[in-house]
Amino acid sequence: MTTRTALVTGASRGLGRALATALADRGWRLVLDGRDPDRLASAVAGLPHPDLVTAVPGDVADPEHRAALAAAVGPRLDLLVNNASDLGPSPLPMLADLRPEEFLRVLTVNTVAPLALVQAVLPALRNANGTVVDISSDAAVEPYAGWGGYGASKAALDQLTAVLAVENPGLRVFAVDPGDMNTDMHQAAFPGEDISDRPAPDTVVPAFLALLDSALPSGRYRAADLVPAGTAR
Ligand SMILES: NC(=O)c1ccc[n+]([C@@H]2O[C@H](COP(=O)([O-])OP(=O)(O)OC[C@H]3O[C@@H](n4cnc5c(N)ncnc54)[C@H](OP(=O)(O)O)[C@@H]3O)[C@@H](O)[C@H]2O)c1
Repeated sequence: MTTRTALVTGASRGLGRALATALADRGWRLVLDGRDPDRLASAVAGLPHPDLVTAVPGDVADPEHRAALAAAVGPRLDLLVNNASDLGPSPLPMLADLRPEEFLRVLTVNTVAPLALVQAVLPALRNANGTVVDISSDAAVEPYAGWGGYGASKAALDQLTAVLAVENPGLRVFAVDPGDMNTDMHQAAFPGEDISDRPAPDTVVPAFLALLDSALPSGRYRAADLVPAGTAR
């Protein structure tokens, strides 16, 4: 069987790193990004098969960086995970106080960049009958105070995901809400609070692997529904 290739954005820490580790464990060839080159390099060095990894440091909001990612992928792409995301200001502001330029940055990273990346690698995805996983959030569907900008960006991402699925029946296109995780982003959303009761990002990885291994159709899924609580390894 040919080696499968995945592009995972935001893979230097948090959920992206956990997903990259699991895919590397399965022998996938990986193209990974993250803005901080040192953090990305150190994450790659800790992966099971660093020789199968191409690290491309950069910002998903940058069109030249996205072109570099597509070039690193090559002609076939089995899996794109749009994971890199911007929370916006911390502490999270009420919508009355969200500055338009801050909202624009959140939309650019969380909504515009994932679509642009899909566009950049679409021929490679089609060559492999590939899969797109857009990382969503419960903030896309629940009206939490302070989460309006980020939540709107994820709600728009959900809709882009749903329309991409209809327009590309040869691909599987998923939006996945991973649930709360103990990560830097979550800490930024709750500055000064103890978030150690939230699960580590690697605990939701089995749900993602279950989705990839399943025959489930394109759509929006919650990680918690894919692997029943307590059965994650
Ligand atoms: N944590 C939660 O509770 C939670 C809940 C629901 C949904 N989510 C979603 O889960 C995904 C992962 O979140 P996380 O909590 O794992 O975040 P995280 O710990 O903050 O990690 C974010 C990763 O993305 C990279 N990144 C951030 N902005 C980037 C950009 N503009 N371009 C390229 N890379 C970028 C970061 O590296 P650099 O900083 O070096 O770029 C890092 O590798 C996100 O889509 C998030 O919205 C998280």
